[in-house]
Amino acid sequence: MRGLFFTFEGPEGSGKSTHVKLLYEYLEKKNFDVIKVREPGDTRVGEKIRRIILNPEYKEISPLTETLLYMASRNQLVEEVILPYLNKGYIVLCDRFLDSTIVYQGFALKVELDLIKKIANFVCKGITPDLTIVLDLPIKEGLHRVGKKPDRIEKRNLAFHRRVREGYFKLSRLYPHRIKIIPVEEKISVTQNKIRELILEKICLLNK
Ligand code: TMP
Repeated sequence: MRGLFFTFEGPEGSGKSTHVKLLYEYLEKKNFDVIKVREPGDTRVGEKIRRIILNPEYKEISPLTETLLYMASRNQLVEEVILPYLNKGYIVLCDRFLDSTIVYQGFALKVELDLIKKIANFVCKGITPDLTIVLDLPIKEGLHRVGKKPDRIEKRNLAFHRRVREGYFKLSRLYPHRIKIIPVEEKISVTQNKIRELILEKICLLNK
């Protein structure tokens, strides 16, 4: 594996996809070979899975089924897109990855962490992020940004979303070198500049 793998995480409404897009355009302008993907989805099969997992009509999905669906979408993305591009030396920007499952299904939904880790060993093919940026903001603010049509996960209660946010703090304490928390500022450019600074620093470090 020759490329670099950067993941972006955070509770609902943190603006990850906007920031990943801005970062992607910035790196492309700087002539880096870069692609961006998001989870769940971004493959033909993954998009079908996304439509099932996020559909509020499927109230009956069990925590383990939910975990396995996210993992299935992830494996398809890893095998079909992420690994091939990393092997070609690309920078891969990924909007959510395994940390989302650890936090949402593990910490917040109480699926056994050992089980998640065991499944992940098969699913992720040994890929771990070179850097993970968690965009953090207060839960109520984030849910307010989500708007009027929340999906199946966004619909969960405040206690669930609080466990998600706390989960990211916990993970960042466990892996302080890999996971960096950036508070979401009112101005997009301020947050974006902080992200760029961290990413460029990591690219320089890893290319030495
Ligand atoms: P998105 O809103 O960032 O597109 O992510 C989709 C939703 O899926 C979001 O509510 C977080 C949730 N999610 C999990 O619960 N577990 C996972 O493993 C992933 C990738 C996402």
